Amino acid sequence: MRTVHTIAELRAQVAAWRQAGERVAFVPTMGNLHRGHIHLVERAREQAPRTVASIFVNPTQFGPNEDFAGYPRTLAEDARQLKAAGLDVLFAPPVAEIYPRPLEDMTAVTVPELSGILCGASRPTHFRGVATVVGKLFNMVQPDAALFGEKDWQQLMIIRRLVEDLNFPIEIIGVPTVRETDGLAMSSRNGYLTSQERAIAPALYATLSASAQRLRAGERDYQRLADDAKAALAAAGFRPDYFEIRRAGDLKPPSGEDTHLRILAAAWLGKARLIDNLAV
Ligand code: PAJ
Repeated sequence: MRTVHTIAELRAQVAAWRQAGERVAFVPTMGNLHRGHIHLVERAREQAPRTVASIFVNPTQFGPNEDFAGYPRTLAEDARQLKAAGLDVLFAPPVAEIYPRPLEDMTAVTVPELSGILCGASRPTHFRGVATVVGKLFNMVQPDAALFGEKDWQQLMIIRRLVEDLNFPIEIIGVPTVRETDGLAMSSRNGYLTSQERAIAPALYATLSASAQRLRAGERDYQRLADDAKAALAAAGFRPDYFEIRRAGDLKPPSGEDTHLRILAAAWLGKARLIDNLAV
């Protein structure tokens, strides 16, 4: 595995592969890798003979009072795991390589329809930062395919819309959530939990599963399901942000006839804001 820090080195490497007619798959991350990230790399290797991952803690997707400064940065250990997974190139640029001018002077990308709801309601600039950096990374790597986790379902839907609206010739592949044995979705932010909070954390997945069960049994009072779930989360020790049953594709509130649903939730537990979602 080769680690590169500049766009020029990255482009030269990818251009050589392309000249040889080799397909390229790409996994963008913010590092502090866990088995969920590594699973994306394994799936990428099934997609293409050449794989690129990026590690970039993207300042534009963090709000002013969020954890950008404290976000865990573990590049040496991440690189070791990526090498063991068989990755070809790790792109780990410094902030100035991605944002050479003051952030407020730089071009941004917005996906208006999907970015103001759910996580976007409490993090108003978050998805603009995500769409902008992913669009930039796509132009730097120019992959044939890019892989994203279903754990961040709203993000995955926004990336699909970005690629459709801006005509990126890139296949977007969603990968199911990798969980701990007790159901907790793996996340870099789980490291913020105290051992006491870690014991409570699986209640988020358990609550989503209980709602999914009730939906499958035929319940259609979405408001009541959400209210019950928020009460259960609060009783377990969470501060619920949202708990919503939506149409899976466009994240709109479902009508009675919709069959492709997704239950999405975000809740605070101590310093950590945990998110998770389930298909119904
Ligand atoms: P990050 O949180 O590091 O996640 C990188 C990728 O790993 C995302 O596609 C995310 O959905 C996926 N992922 C995280 N936990 C997972 C799990 N438990 N199972 C499966 N996949 C999982 O998401 C971001 O970074 C950033 O917003 C980024 C897209 C890199 C843009 O900065």
